[in-house]
Amino acid sequence: MHESILAYRKRRYLWIALGVSLLAIVAYLFDDPQEPSNGGTVLGYTLGTTGVLLILWLTWFGVRKRRYSSTRGTVQGWLSAHVYLGVALLVVVVLHAGFQFGMNVHTVAFALMVLVIASGLWGVFIYMRYPERASANRDGSSRPELMDQLEDLDRRAQRVAGELSEEFQELVESGVSRTQLGSTLWTRLRGRDLSQIILRQGGKTTVMANPGQEAALDWLANEQSRAVDADSLAKIGELSALIRNKRQLLRQIAEDLRLQATMEIWLYFHVPLTAAMLMALIAHIVTVFLYW
Ligand code: HEM
Ligand code: HEM
Repeated sequence: MHESILAYRKRRYLWIALGVSLLAIVAYLFDDPQEPSNGGTVLGYTLGTTGVLLILWLTWFGVRKRRYSSTRGTVQGWLSAHVYLGVALLVVVVLHAGFQFGMNVHTVAFALMVLVIASGLWGVFIYMRYPERASANRDGSSRPELMDQLEDLDRRAQRVAGELSEEFQELVESGVSRTQLGSTLWTRLRGRDLSQIILRQGGKTTVMANPGQEAALDWLANEQSRAVDADSLAKIGELSALIRNKRQLLRQIAEDLRLQATMEIWLYFHVPLTAAMLMALIAHIVTVFLYW
């Protein structure tokens, strides 16, 4: 997806977008309306209509993206064109308005369009940087593979704890059931570890926050210092090693979730802003035909 969207077919769409922009600029420079340039001249209407057609086509990308059976161009080619023509739209619309902006619904449509384009640029920036970071973080594994490794570690810890006393089993079981991997987009983005654990201390059981498995590891270190026979000592050591591995794995998974959320968050701006812009655009065109 990354570099290749911009470089697609020797930057074919960059040239097309530059061509569209240049054509609009030349037409604007050579245009001689008998009034200040604005959306209401012949050229103004032409550029406005071009702008609307471009916007409808850019919006259509949301549909095209999901039609896996379509044979009309690759999604990659469409995205490349989307990015370059999306930026060219800015030139077309600024010239359509004849550089005139005011406190009106036309300018609201324009401002929303600028925000859509800005969020699109943000998205391209993310797509260029994050996929590589995400695969470096996963170190060659996929997310399901990381989850399998986590399950495997939990199973091994349960087996070792099964050979120790009940509080160790409780520690491992609660550690499994109360591990929290960001469930909402927001918690994933913040990457905070809200895991908990149930510990037995001085005959009392307490639910403790367990970020980075710290509470579990501290508790195990304490038990290890009090253990008397060599066998329990070895088993507690083994359990600690497994939980340290789990801590590392959980960090990797949380980072993977965080990176994926970052790759999605900009679309939560791009798409609703597109919807808002379309509404404002309808208002712009309707008011223009009613009152102009
Ligand atoms: C069918 C397409 C369009 C038509 C017929 C159209 C028509 C017009 C007309 C007649 C004006 C002059 C109104 C005035 O100066 O008060 C105008 C101005 C303007 N239009 Fe459009 N337009 C179209 C598309 C667009 C698009 C796609 C945008 C951007 C999202 C846009 C943004 C503006 C802006 C910012 C102005 C200047 C407002 C001002 O002078 O304060 N228009 N348009
Ligand atoms: C007014 C102009 C634009 C409109 C109306 C628009 C609209 C859309 C829509 C509807 C989608 C589909 C999103 C989805 O359904 O998941 C999309 C995707 C996308 N847009 Fe735009 N866009 C515009 C400009 C831009 C610009 C200028 C850029 C970049 C510079 C851009 C970058 C992207 C990217 C990278 C995606 C792909 C998201 C994905 O497939 O994960 N857009 N856009």
